Amino acid sequence: MGRSWFSKMSLIFGPRQPRSLLLLCAVCVLVLIGLLGPSSSSDSEPGITNARLDVYSNYRRLKEQTANDYLELRTLSSGAKQLKEFSLCGKEREDFVPCYNVTGNLLLGFKDGEEFDRHCEASGERQHCLVRPPNNYKTPLSWPAGRDIIWNANVKITKDQFLSSGSMTKRLMLLEENQIAFHSDDGLIVDGVKDYSHQIAEMIGLTSDLEFRHAGVHTVLDIGCGFGSFGAHLLSLNVMAVCMAAYELTGSQVQLSLERGLPAIIGNFISRQLPFPSLSYDMVHCAQCGISWDSKDGMFLIEVDRLLKPGGYFVLNSPAGRAKTSSVTRITLLTEKICWSLLAQEEDTFVWQKTADSQCYTSKLDTVPPCQDTHDVPSFYPPLAPCISGTASNRWIPIQNRSSSYPLKPAKLEIYGKFHPEEFDEDLEYWRSALKNYWSLLTPLIFSDHPKRPGEEDPLPPYNMIRNVLDMNAHYGGLNAAFLEARISVWVMNVVPIRTQNTLPLILNQGFAGVYHDWCQSFPTYPRTYDMLHANGLLSHIDSVGCSLTDLLLEMDRILRPEGWVVLSDTLGPIEKARMLATQIRWEARVIDLQNGSDQRLLVCQKPFLRK
Ligand SMILES: *[C@@H]1O[C@H](CO)[C@@H](O)[C@H](O)[C@H]1NC(C)=O
Ligand SMILES: *[C@@H]1O[C@H](CO)[C@@H](O)[C@H](O)[C@H]1NC(C)=O
Ligand SMILES: *[C@@H]1O[C@H](CO)[C@@H](O)[C@H](O)[C@H]1NC(C)=O
Repeated sequence: MGRSWFSKMSLIFGPRQPRSLLLLCAVCVLVLIGLLGPSSSSDSEPGITNARLDVYSNYRRLKEQTANDYLELRTLSSGAKQLKEFSLCGKEREDFVPCYNVTGNLLLGFKDGEEFDRHCEASGERQHCLVRPPNNYKTPLSWPAGRDIIWNANVKITKDQFLSSGSMTKRLMLLEENQIAFHSDDGLIVDGVKDYSHQIAEMIGLTSDLEFRHAGVHTVLDIGCGFGSFGAHLLSLNVMAVCMAAYELTGSQVQLSLERGLPAIIGNFISRQLPFPSLSYDMVHCAQCGISWDSKDGMFLIEVDRLLKPGGYFVLNSPAGRAKTSSVTRITLLTEKICWSLLAQEEDTFVWQKTADSQCYTSKLDTVPPCQDTHDVPSFYPPLAPCISGTASNRWIPIQNRSSSYPLKPAKLEIYGKFHPEEFDEDLEYWRSALKNYWSLLTPLIFSDHPKRPGEEDPLPPYNMIRNVLDMNAHYGGLNAAFLEARISVWVMNVVPIRTQNTLPLILNQGFAGVYHDWCQSFPTYPRTYDMLHANGLLSHIDSVGCSLTDLLLEMDRILRPEGWVVLSDTLGPIEKARMLATQIRWEARVIDLQNGSDQRLLVCQKPFLRK
């Protein structure tokens, strides 16, 4: 399959063009070839010539498209000044996460914790520079070895920080020379997490944590995840656990989790809701996550309630010293107001269950009222609201009633909005074959002067180098599903851009990780945290909403680890623009024509290992 597709495709725009005006030259050459006809290239295969003609006519069409596009293309390809390579940012930006400038936020008057919130509007002009890796940065070990051992220099953490860290999950770390080891296979230490997980399973009435999935627990939001060991254990049980923690200057839980190849994202809900729809998770877990659950009239508990599916669980582990009786009493009173029941308490661990009865909020006295606004259209980081979400949603289905989440039963699709089951099936079918094709392309060979020809052996795909995948415009989550079916051991962060069809509930319900995002802003993650970025149709979308493609690609460069891969799929116009920017960003880049008569193109890029 991969091979036949390979023979059909051809690589255009020549080999390894060094960051220059060469694209324009390439187009000129193509124009010449187009004018002179096949006779001038009798030494090349007929398919290749046709491809070039195709590109020529597509280029013509592009020129006639919108004046704007053409102007931008010209400005980019003329003016040597603009085609200059971007320089590296200063060393102080090694771990730079835009929108989280705590000092700046304090100066702007944010306080009471809101200075740790995401404030993109306060971060000012975006600088056009490339975030550099730290000295001694090393390519992470491949999965699963990389889950247990990471390179010290790749993350910003002080020795004191993990020796002094108090949280149960944090204490699992040990330091060895230039590595941090988590020893999850080491019987002695891992027992802590295993016992803990087993204890939670028993508290919700199961005989073992192997039954989590069977009991409807497929997705867990782990707030303040330590360094992800609990999540790593849940993943091994086939439960998708996403770590979420606030931005931290050093010792970041999110950075360490991602470095280990575990799903994680920066987020907090001090004043605003998280970028997930209501009724998203089967369990929310907080082990000493630093949130005062009894403060703000229970607003934080109400946000957890919003995220939980009916019948879902909230697990709170609070150290004995801090779980003061008065605080526990207050939390208990608040949970009664939102129709949660305390299932069990053992030592420092509490498990509550959200009601499965949507009438509970109106039938009991003194409960928090349902939200008036019942439509399912997502807003982006709206303020916390003192009301119960999702009671009127078609997606109000107790987790215990769900037999399996993946594969989804097409007959059940209508609860997610206006979807056509056939479309969903076709989408998955499409991604099954697309994944094979992409995967065979991800090899440095693609940039060589002698790209693969029909009949040659397929190059080895980089199975061992890719673990964290960001699907920047995930639609139904088809790429994630295809990865799962192909049993490739990656996980995918599925992003549903705002202002597009709201497919995130559908994605999350398949047991996948996902989040809303506005790609006109930067993504809430640390630099170098993803191994592969994929975006289908995102460039056109960014164009249509009037945001800067330059900012988008620079942000992608920040997120991508050195030697990581980018696969962009779009129409010719945006792909050409992106290709020129890729050159400025110093990515190796190749445009691939799918050769089926459409103007769809692939742009495959690899980020180099830049030091200076
Ligand atoms: C953060 O904000 C302060 C004050 O506005 C500013 O001086 C500083 O340069 C900002 N830092 C970054 C990394 O943008
Ligand atoms: C869930 O299952 C229970 C027992 O099978 C049933 O009584 C209940 O009506 C179901 N609830 C929903 C919302 O489907
Ligand atoms: C060509 O392939 C692309 C991507 O594989 C697809 O989106 C497009 O619909 C195809 N076009 C035709 C005319 O088959």
